[in-house]
Amino acid sequence: MKTNRLLALLMASALMLAGCGTSDSSPESSGETVTASSSDSSDNSSYVRNSRFVDTSDYPSLKELYKDKFLFGCAISTKVQETPEYTELAVQQFNSYTAENAMKPEAVLLYSKAIADPEKYQEHAPITTKNMEACLEYAKANGFAVRGHTLVWHSQTPEWFFYKNYDRDGGELADRDLMLARMENYIKDVLEWTNENYPGLIYAWDVVNEAADDGSGMRQSLWYKTIGEDFVAKAFEFARKYAASDVKLFYNDYNSYQTRKQNDILKFLKPIAEAGNLDGMGMQSHIGEYLNVTDYFSAMKRYHDELGVEIQITELDIGKNNKDDWELSQGAFYAQFFSSLLKTIDEGVPVTSVTLWGLTDDMSWREGENALVFNADLSRKEAFKGIVSAIK
Ligand code: XIL
Repeated sequence: MKTNRLLALLMASALMLAGCGTSDSSPESSGETVTASSSDSSDNSSYVRNSRFVDTSDYPSLKELYKDKFLFGCAISTKVQETPEYTELAVQQFNSYTAENAMKPEAVLLYSKAIADPEKYQEHAPITTKNMEACLEYAKANGFAVRGHTLVWHSQTPEWFFYKNYDRDGGELADRDLMLARMENYIKDVLEWTNENYPGLIYAWDVVNEAADDGSGMRQSLWYKTIGEDFVAKAFEFARKYAASDVKLFYNDYNSYQTRKQNDILKFLKPIAEAGNLDGMGMQSHIGEYLNVTDYFSAMKRYHDELGVEIQITELDIGKNNKDDWELSQGAFYAQFFSSLLKTIDEGVPVTSVTLWGLTDDMSWREGENALVFNADLSRKEAFKGIVSAIK
């Protein structure tokens, strides 16, 4: 990389540190947990490329290779944002950005303000836009389109949000009407603030994440318990009301290719799609080589056929097998997966973006599974070569 470009990236990162995201292993609740670890160099003028990273400048670019097919994205953590070499590689490879953690409700809801006057904020929980702003500034500065992730989720949403008077110690759960008001206000605040401040930057929002249960039916989450089973429909209704017309509204889930989960998801999404409030199905795709690729792409086709919506692969990572030659085998599997994806697109399924859930294996949430396409030193894995070979 040219030194100038690296310096520019470093300075952009440094500027962002002032308000940069929650720590990625977010502690319990609220956007107040803003800490920024220092980047590799505190002195811009003497910055040299860190020798723990290999030179990546001659890599083929996934976003270029796939540019006629779909946006190619990556989940970006604050650590990536703060490290110029990571950012350099991300910019070279990807044109879509998902905040790995910093735009989730726990990074946005503001406990200290809510608890200072719970009656005043009873129906309308206060938020901080600080973390979202750091993400969106970074995305804008680096030319990424953004997937908003996520508005309504049982996880990484502080528990106090579901209790009357924001009581952290439990107490009485908020009732349906109160939670509907809180849900509407949260969705409104986030969608309106992002639209007003970053118009056109966010192309899709995961409105509801992981509402299907792993057993059967719907997950018995605090959203489900407080509002009831129409909480998903309500979330999409509110999102449609406040989202700009160029923002696509997505439902997102893992194991969504499995037959039973697929049936459950289709059951609750169909009326939402019929009401015109659903634009897309997000298949997270935290998978392994055990996956039956044919079944997976049949499920993808079925979501499109039955809901009439576009598809995005939102969180792809493919864990290694336990054999000695796992790297080769993983590379072949990535190649097979992307070949089947291209075939599915050729057959008429509109897949509009594909996102890898992280940049390097050492930063992946699937610790020890080496599920991504770059090694810690930024060298390319067979997995990367597999994705390249599928389109070449
Ligand atoms: C994960 C992040 O990668 C981790 O850093 C965090 O500790 C937990 O969440 N489904 C999702 C993502 O929708 O938001 C999750 O991300 C992975 C599973």
